[in-house]
Amino acid sequence: MHILAIETSCDETAASVLKNGSEILSNVVATQTEFHKKYGGIVPEIAARKHVELISPVIQEAIDKANIPFDKLDAVAVTYGPGLIGSLIVGLCAAKALAWSIKKPLIGVNHLEGHIYANLLTSNFQHPASKLASSPKSSFPFLCLLVSGGHTMIVHVKNHGKYETIGRTRDDAAGEAFDKVARVLNLGYPGGPIIDRLAKEGNPLSVKFKKPMVEDQYGYDFSFSGIKTAVVNYVTRTAKRASFPTSQSLDAHHIRDICSSFQNTVIVTLVEKLIQAARDLHINTVSLAGGVSANSQLREYLTIRCAEEGLSCLIPSFEFSTDNAAMIACAAYYKFQRKEFSALRLKPLASLKL
Ligand code: KG4
Ligand code: ZN
Repeated sequence: MHILAIETSCDETAASVLKNGSEILSNVVATQTEFHKKYGGIVPEIAARKHVELISPVIQEAIDKANIPFDKLDAVAVTYGPGLIGSLIVGLCAAKALAWSIKKPLIGVNHLEGHIYANLLTSNFQHPASKLASSPKSSFPFLCLLVSGGHTMIVHVKNHGKYETIGRTRDDAAGEAFDKVARVLNLGYPGGPIIDRLAKEGNPLSVKFKKPMVEDQYGYDFSFSGIKTAVVNYVTRTAKRASFPTSQSLDAHHIRDICSSFQNTVIVTLVEKLIQAARDLHINTVSLAGGVSANSQLREYLTIRCAEEGLSCLIPSFEFSTDNAAMIACAAYYKFQRKEFSALRLKPLASLKL
């Protein structure tokens, strides 16, 4: 059972061939970061054009690496939302053409669902129906902290395809906050990995940023626009005091401290809400998904807190944290089992919900 999946929701052109839902035969990701860097963020028009250039070679590479001819595929899966509309269209057109030409089903996958399914590609996930487990493994239900450039949510994953969003950001996504803070500090794009690296050498307690929306009344919801503004204000105040015009005047040591303090505040807020939700709902397994789940402090802190709380913890490997097509293929495998196929008139949906 072989599924080819295509993912082009944002600025990564990706294709993957997955065998029997878990064996990754190929996972090709062509990132466009270089082309967007100088603009300090993704330019949707450039992203769409680059996808057009890259889509055929990326699919061909995934097929070659998997060493399987097109006509031996059992289905073609594709992300149809949420994402940038111009980017989604490119992947969707390629997937439709391919599915039609080899006369195999098309499976439209929600990008957020794909991120959640990255957890099923980790070796310690146990499908409930499988009797092969020799050691205890994680399984349904679990809570997933989905943190990416466009989303921040806590999802109660009850079973395959059964989700309930129990918390979400009321403004900026966590990844967006990382990217914006990096921009304020003139660090480059994308901000997440740069702040992650610099934060390791800074003091997380040097600048006091208030943990956002931790009061009970906010439940499991998040907010990150306040802390972003707090960083902007801190930088402006410090620069003014030193009578310098911009953050370029801050020394490297000071910048590392700001990164460390900002990151620590965001990570502790995210993890503590997730743990609280697990306690309240009596759910024993928590997991991470989305680009921000590549963050080293988030991975470490969640692992430590789960050990303290006696919770199981699923963390996708780095290559499946950020956008990729293997996670889309994995979600599609279970849709295939449920015969959830899509019509060739499937439309891209920029604001598709989980
Ligand atoms: O899931 P993703 O690849 O694309 C979206 O679906 O949005 O997530 C991209 C986001 C960006 O905001 C990026 O800065 C952030 O993930 N990110 C990180 C790290 N690596 C990527 N944030 C914090 N720490 C990282 N190591
Ligand atoms: Zn994503």
